[in-house]
Amino acid sequence: MTGEDQRAVVVTGGSRGIGRAICRTLARPGTHVFFNYYTPGDRQEEEAAADETCKLIESAGGKATGIWANVADKDQVKDFFKQVMDACGRIDVLVNNAGITRDNLLVRMKESEWDDVLEVNLKGPFLCIQIAARVMMKQRSGRIVNIASIVGVVGNPGQANYVASKAGIIGLTKTAAREYASRGVTVNAVAPGFIETDMTAKLPEKVKAAMLAQIPLGRPGTPDDVAAAVRFLASEDAAYITGQVIHVSGGMYM
Ligand code: NAI
Repeated sequence: MTGEDQRAVVVTGGSRGIGRAICRTLARPGTHVFFNYYTPGDRQEEEAAADETCKLIESAGGKATGIWANVADKDQVKDFFKQVMDACGRIDVLVNNAGITRDNLLVRMKESEWDDVLEVNLKGPFLCIQIAARVMMKQRSGRIVNIASIVGVVGNPGQANYVASKAGIIGLTKTAAREYASRGVTVNAVAPGFIETDMTAKLPEKVKAAMLAQIPLGRPGTPDDVAAAVRFLASEDAAYITGQVIHVSGGMYM
């Protein structure tokens, strides 16, 4: 099979957590999974995590490419997608998953905390959708899935920046869905509740217990729970679904 025959799947923030589970779940023979990853922290640790994601994709029979690229940086995003197009000449699925938190009460929130979160969580998806949608519209097919959050719908004290970014991604999803529907491209969002990943591991035990008490299904979610919803929305079976937000929250939001 040549590169041009491969189905191309692009996942942002694939080195860990939910993004890694999405990469593994979408991987199969005939599929090339491209993912990016980035941290202002320990690059070596992030690269080791990315290598692990590549192994999981390959074990599922897919081809894997992990690229160090910041979704908030236009040039790095352009270069990331260039590598996808050079290898496959097409983009079948885009999952905007990369996301960060910089929590603080609104009155104490620094401008940099606001800007960092909005840049990664909302400008990142905007930049990626702009590039991928052009390709998908020409193909007259494509699936875009954005990872939002339950808090983007219900709000959360201490997360004004994050909540604004996640509410924003829901609006972005619905607008992109309307703009691209006539070209066979669907755009949906998945809104996870409380999922066990590095992002939530740093929450205080008291906060975790309070969240758990609000989950009717009585357990935190796993990255695989979220990836299963993404797999469905990225599949042929979801051809008639667009502009929707699917909550994967154990019933936290109904
Ligand atoms: P995580 O912190 O475990 O992993 C984040 C991933 O994003 C990593 O692969 C990292 O390399 C990548 N990343 C971070 N900044 C980046 C940047 N500037 N450019 C490119 N990649 C970058 O996070 P987790 O928990 O797996 O979250 C994934 C998504 O799910 C995020 O959008 C998050 O907001 C959302 N989410 C998570 C929930 C949870 O309970 N864990 C709940 C609701 C939504």
